[in-house]
Parts: sequence; structure tokens; C-alpha cells
Amino acid sequence: MDYKKLITELKPDRIPRHVAIIMDGNGRWARKHNTTRINGHKQGVAAVRRVVETGVEIGLKYLTIYAFSTENWARSKREVNYLLKLIMNSLVNEIDELIKNGVNIRFIGSRENLSESYTRKVQQTCRKSWENNKLFLNVAMNYGGRNEIIDACKDIILDINKGKIELDELNEKSLDNYLYTTGIPDPDLVIRTSGEQRLSNFLVWQSAYSELWFTDTLWPDFSKKEFLQALIDYQNRDRRFGGRKR
Ligand code: FPP
Repeated sequence: MDYKKLITELKPDRIPRHVAIIMDGNGRWARKHNTTRINGHKQGVAAVRRVVETGVEIGLKYLTIYAFSTENWARSKREVNYLLKLIMNSLVNEIDELIKNGVNIRFIGSRENLSESYTRKVQQTCRKSWENNKLFLNVAMNYGGRNEIIDACKDIILDINKGKIELDELNEKSLDNYLYTTGIPDPDLVIRTSGEQRLSNFLVWQSAYSELWFTDTLWPDFSKKEFLQALIDYQNRDRRFGGRKR
């Protein structure tokens, strides 16, 4: 079935509010095509564009993509530098188009290890889109889920010491205020490409009740059609949240 036909299969009243994606397999795609890893990442950007376009088209509200993990610093200096540059350049090159399409873009993650000028430029570029509210696109950059929880714990302790909150006021909801993702609903669906079936430190707190969807497709090959297939599969699942009311 082609994309146009598939889109009619989507139930408009059951579009997930938030989809999060672990974009994996750029390196393997490069090996398969006998090209450089750098080229693999470059092709990965085109796949990002496709999922954003589809997100806008179907009325998805939140999309989070795992662009650079805290573990990615362990890669070669050349690859790390390329990735940092690619992410920044993609943001700068695409920002006008994103704004035109109603996308509100924000980076989530730690500032540690990123230069101040990098963070400032990201902030300045993203800020231009903050009037938008069609699709909220979160780019997880220098992101690690466990790190996020540690950072939250530190801020909570500081606020308790300052008397801003009481220990008894700490619960799942108030903890949310201290995460990088504050204000963003938990993901309904987490997609991972390239055949790996794990979360790899991505949104570990937030995905406690998320549906997971895995595919062998390598990220640069991830198509609009497959994105729809994942969403349709999600729509046919029965979510019970362990009996918790939502
Ligand atoms: C995983 O493939 C992919 C990454 C670590 C980088 C993903 C980043 C992009 C696609 C850049 C786009 C970002 C924006 C914001 C436009 P891998 O290198 O781990 O692949 P492998 O497991 O096959 O080696």
C-alpha cells in the first residue's frame, strides 16, 4: 500500500500525542553502501526531514529525536565533531522551513561538554520558532536519561534546602518539573530503527509506560510509509498503563 492510501488508514482520533525516535543504523547504512559513516549521518538528516513532514501532516503534537547521546562522546574525535556540526548546520538550514510549517523546536539535554557558543547559537536559532504550536520537535542533544535524573535530583535537593519545595511534595508529577523534558507529555510510542531492541538511556523515566516499536530498517532508509506503519500498529494496541488511569 502506498503512503497516500496508508494515511487514510490512520484513525485521526488516536494519533499518539508524543512519538520519540532512536535513530539508529547510520553507520551500518554507510558500510552497506560502501561509503563513510559521515555520509551515513548526512543521509540520516533526510530521514529526520521525512518524519517531521509526516508529523506535521498527520497532526502529531510532540516528536522527540535522539540526535546525540552522552555516550556518543566516546566516538572518534572526527565523527563527534562532524555530528555536532551536522546537527547545528541542519538546524540553521532548516529553521525557516520548520517555522513555515508551524514547528516549535527545542533542544533537550545537558549543557556539559558543549561549548557556550554552540549552546548560544542553538538557543538563538530555536527561539525564532517558539511562537509556533503545530508540532513540538525536541532534539535530544548531549542527552542521557540517567544523567537527566541525577541533574533533577541535584536541583530538587537545592530547592528543598532553599525551602522552595517540601520533601513530602515530591512525587511523580513534581519530579517532572525538574527533568529536561518538563512540560512535554510522556512519549506514547518509542520507535527504534536498525534491529536493536533497547532504550539505550533514552527517556528512561518518561518511557515507563510507552509502547515500543522496533524495525530492522536502518535509519537513513526509514520512510514516511514505515513511519505510518508504526503509527497504525500503535493505534491497534491496547494500552492499559498497568491499570493506572490516564
Ligand atoms: C545512530 O547511528 C545515529 C546517530 C548517533 C546520530 C543521529 C543524528 C542524525 C541523524 C543527525 C540529525 C539530527 C538533526 C537534529 C537534524 P549509528 O552511527 O550509531 O549507526 P551504527 O549503529 O550503524 O553504527
